[in-house]
Amino acid sequence: MKKVLFVCLGNICRSPAAEGSFIKLLKERNLTRDFVVDSAGTGHYHQGELPDSRMIQEAGKRDIVLPSRARQFKIEDFQKFDFIIAMDENNLRDLKQLDRQEQWARKLFLMTDFRVATNYREVPDPYYGDARDFNLVLDIVWDCSQGLLERILQDKK
Ligand code: 4NP
Repeated sequence: MKKVLFVCLGNICRSPAAEGSFIKLLKERNLTRDFVVDSAGTGHYHQGELPDSRMIQEAGKRDIVLPSRARQFKIEDFQKFDFIIAMDENNLRDLKQLDRQEQWARKLFLMTDFRVATNYREVPDPYYGDARDFNLVLDIVWDCSQGLLERILQDKK
């Protein structure tokens, strides 16, 4: 069993999209039962909310379902998850600040560490953008999901 947590700021746009995309990929590969997949935000502002309606809509067009309810990242998550994957450098910095003794550094990644074809080095925040920005997020997280899955399957060998 591998446990994967996607992290952004609000947990209503990017990390729910990454979570839903990775779940879709696992379904396609018949691997769902080997994984726990979740998402969280470094901030607490949207606690309990459904994903942003714009992201639900754009993801839906790609048959990607977003099951998350926003929650804030908590210290226990460092222990619970094997891969803790930040959407941008700010999210990664915030996670590192919570890991004062660098005890969990080996679990911390940027989503774009797993990029396959995209040139993006972060997943850009779409919150103040339009449908194009939400679709860009979906493109990037789908690309990186492929690389992430390959990396995890490689580790298991
Ligand atoms: P997310 O996007 O981090 O991808 O969920 C954001 C959601 C909300 C805000 C910023 C980014 N906000 O400022 O409320």
